[in-house]
Amino acid sequence: MPATFTRSALVLSLLFGLGQAHAASHPEPKAIAAAHGIPHPAVIAHRGASFDAPESTAAAYKLARDLGADYLEMDLQRSKDGVLFALHDDNLQRTTDVASKFPERKDSPATAFTMAELKTLDAGSWFNSKYPDRARPSYAGLKILTLDEIIDIARANPQHKPGLYIETKEPQLFPGIEHDLKEKLQDRGWLSPAGSKLAKSALGVGQGKGKVILQTFDKNSLQLLEKEMPQVPKILLLWVGEGSIEPKSAVTFAASGEKDKNVFYGKQEPKSEAEFKQWVDYAKAQGAIGTGPSAKLTQGGDQSYSDLVQPWMNQYTHDQGMLVHVYTVDEPVDYEKVMAAGVDGIFTNRASELLKFYKRPAAGSIDDVLKKNGF
Ligand code: G3P
Ligand code: CA
Repeated sequence: MPATFTRSALVLSLLFGLGQAHAASHPEPKAIAAAHGIPHPAVIAHRGASFDAPESTAAAYKLARDLGADYLEMDLQRSKDGVLFALHDDNLQRTTDVASKFPERKDSPATAFTMAELKTLDAGSWFNSKYPDRARPSYAGLKILTLDEIIDIARANPQHKPGLYIETKEPQLFPGIEHDLKEKLQDRGWLSPAGSKLAKSALGVGQGKGKVILQTFDKNSLQLLEKEMPQVPKILLLWVGEGSIEPKSAVTFAASGEKDKNVFYGKQEPKSEAEFKQWVDYAKAQGAIGTGPSAKLTQGGDQSYSDLVQPWMNQYTHDQGMLVHVYTVDEPVDYEKVMAAGVDGIFTNRASELLKFYKRPAAGSIDDVLKKNGF
């Protein structure tokens, strides 16, 4: 019997005991989340508290942790010498000074660099230049972080221990990264089952059975993650475009006449209801416990994509016994909108704002927390 089946059967039997039936055969989303040890609604700090500090650095992750975020989100890559680390883009230009330190290799993917080379890069100064109103001298010289270092950060606050929400980013560039991730999480004790006492701990999700969530846009990577870590909750990320949901219109960005890519993306919609549903069905069949769809944001911007959290979409996903964690939402007007549409958690760059919105405000201000952490 496949491990997936065994686990699904167990989770379902738990679910029936936990909540009122939602559709014919599934409980309320809150009960689904509880059965997986996932807070509802969940605050997922996207690349850390990345509105207020340089993304994926110690400043951003420590701030998200101490504000009280449920999860530290990261995009996982692997260095030339096999070290797992966090970086969103497929090269280092936007968020480091690679162009001045390694001019001849500035366009190379991060995997072309050893960890020692990556550690020479300044991953903070770009933020000060781009966002002078949020700049801090202490951000200059911040380093790229390994997964080990992010784990250390997640564990270091005795009062609040967030979980890890890990995306295999461009996994085709890193064959075997799913296995490497499993080994690392196992070595660090993040795959061991949590006792029921710990699962209910007030210290945060990082102590319970929902302490790690794995996420990917890539169907093949989802299968590999399920094979390597069948017991760990997984989310299939969704958008409308290449490699994901097929768009209604075949007109490309280049042919569309739009100047802004995100305006173009914002107008994209799934080819059909059936096309959307078959992605949710696929996610479920591969062992995912939910989806991570894109959102269309009120003010547009470079995080605004197709609206994949329309009420019927969320309802369909819930009816399959699955959760919806939407990315990436920063404004109260959009928090309202996506929550009203029925999502179960939000990826946000502004953990402090989302915590306020959920009436779980942080004890200290952003400035206080940054200062306390030496920034
Ligand atoms: O992982 C959820 C969200 O982060 C997906 O978009 O491009 O920011 O990784 P991206
Ligand atoms: Ca991500």
